[in-house]
Amino acid sequence: MIVRTRLAVGAALLLVFTQAVPASAAGPLKHNTNRYVGSAVAVQHLNAEADYKKVLTREFDSVTPENEMKWGVVEAVRGQYDWSGADAIVDYARRTGKTVRGHTLVWHSQLPDWVGGLEAAELRRVVKDHIRTEAGRYRGKIRAWDVVNEAFNEDGTRRQTVFQEKLGDRYIADAFRWAHAADPKAKLYINDYNIEGLNPKSDATYELVKSLKRQGVPIHGVGIQAHLSLMYGFPSGMKENIARFAALGLDVAITEADVRIPLPVTPEKLVSQADYFEQVWDACHAVRRCVEFTTWGFTDRHSWVPDVFPGEGAACLFDENLRPKPAYTRLNP
Ligand code: G3I
Repeated sequence: MIVRTRLAVGAALLLVFTQAVPASAAGPLKHNTNRYVGSAVAVQHLNAEADYKKVLTREFDSVTPENEMKWGVVEAVRGQYDWSGADAIVDYARRTGKTVRGHTLVWHSQLPDWVGGLEAAELRRVVKDHIRTEAGRYRGKIRAWDVVNEAFNEDGTRRQTVFQEKLGDRYIADAFRWAHAADPKAKLYINDYNIEGLNPKSDATYELVKSLKRQGVPIHGVGIQAHLSLMYGFPSGMKENIARFAALGLDVAITEADVRIPLPVTPEKLVSQADYFEQVWDACHAVRRCVEFTTWGFTDRHSWVPDVFPGEGAACLFDENLRPKPAYTRLNP
């Protein structure tokens, strides 16, 4: 009985807490900064849910296709391309005046099986062709590309992907050169998670981009995913980390921000989540060359988190009913 009463009071508090937040009193988030403000978007929701589309269109000025540009989606079968999802998002962005962050050209995940089976020389040709075909198709329509995604292990060693194992260290420089040839105006990024703060993985990324710049490889930015969890604490040294990349003459983008909450959600945890989002936002705004703040989806209605981290969720700025959460209000008071 007491437990039920407590639960009821907790739920009521939570309701009051979330509903008390006015719907965008200050205007949309994109007007509260001079950075690009983006969200990952999934084409099936964009097509099926008017309220999803409305909030995305109102709040953000950049979109990143969540899955639609990945190799496994665009060329699941060798030689058979499916651009339907990617085209729809690029079209939506053009119609609504948004820029597009392309995601992603070379990644070990969501990679079709047929790619993994190729021998080295053919793999190299296929990677070049994939980059040329995809970046070439959207030439002039992509503001920034995540060219290489998640190339490092946590200890700073290279992740042993099919690309690393068969093509060696040089595959990264090659990928950037091929992407640049296909779309010379797009800003080209390396992108990774757990490189928010100062740690062995961000050190390795730093050393790599420094060396690529020294060799004249066309790399323009570092994408910091920023998938954070209240369970692990806020990464230390984020501002310093962003600043050291910028000092190399590179742009920095926050590319996939979200903050997972260990369930159940409580008003206190929503405040902590707001603290985390604000710290990421502030770290980006502290460095002139941090040019973008993108979240990995914007509503708890659709998020990759519960599938991958059972027991955690509610990682976005808006709740399942598209009401702004305290984190949203913190960024856009
Ligand atoms: O499209 C199929 C559908 O036909 C099928 O019925 C269904 C059954 O599971 O799967 C659907 O594909 C899923 C796809 O998302 C679309 O919903 C895949 O199984 C699922 O693995 C895939 O997950 C994506 C994940 O990347 C893949 O690793 C997430 O949506 C996406 O948010 C996530 O995004 C990544 C970034 O690209 C890179 N950084 C980390 C981030 C989070 O993991």
